[in-house]
Amino acid sequence: MLGKTLFLILPLFGIALSKLCGPDAPGAFKVRFNIRKALGDKAYAWNADEEFLFKAVMVFAMRAHVDDTIQISNVLICNVTPRVSFWFVVTSPSNSSEPIQSTEVKNAIRLERNRINSAFLLNDNTLEFLAIPPTLAPESEPSSKSWIIVFGVVVGLLGVVSILLVISGIMSKKRKRDQAEIEDHGECEDRIQSEETIENGICFDNETFSEEDNEALENITPF
Ligand SMILES: *[C@@H]1O[C@H](CO)[C@@H](O)[C@H](O)[C@H]1NC(C)=O
Repeated sequence: MLGKTLFLILPLFGIALSKLCGPDAPGAFKVRFNIRKALGDKAYAWNADEEFLFKAVMVFAMRAHVDDTIQISNVLICNVTPRVSFWFVVTSPSNSSEPIQSTEVKNAIRLERNRINSAFLLNDNTLEFLAIPPTLAPESEPSSKSWIIVFGVVVGLLGVVSILLVISGIMSKKRKRDQAEIEDHGECEDRIQSEETIENGICFDNETFSEEDNEALENITPF
């Protein structure tokens, strides 16, 4: 904020900002790497080659989304600390003392966040661009979709389970009733001998049947 204000005020007094890259310089961003947290024993040491890779990845993002004439020499790195944090700034290819607009740099980094992370085997938590939060919008959309899918699956399973419960309830009632009928048949045959009522080959014992029927109905209706 202070840097931005100075950048606007100082030219009015005819004083050029000497520092292009530095804390709070216009268009400059701080990056923090936590390689040890991400990779443990397999952590690599930060050196000039890694720095070059960072510059190259930045150039890739800037060429893809800001200006396809940006070169490695347009990326400046400064204030490097041993536990790996530093500031960087991207300068304009047409004027090396003019930084690229911070909104454009932010946008390009957001769009290539995955490519940048994977170049260093890190993730959004272990590679932080301090003023550039990782994109949330494209991430939250698929996650809400996946929640809808999970919800649908759970509701579907509950539906299937309750249908199975109803069916098994009906089946067990039917089984009980069939058994009761078989027993009734036994009684019936006895009764045929004693010449009692038979309907359609089934011996109707009105009292027991209606009782069973009511019982079955009572047990099914709650579903
Ligand atoms: C380059 O940018 C600096 C800083 O914005 C400005 O002062 C200078 O006039 C520019 N030079 C040219 C050639 O446009």
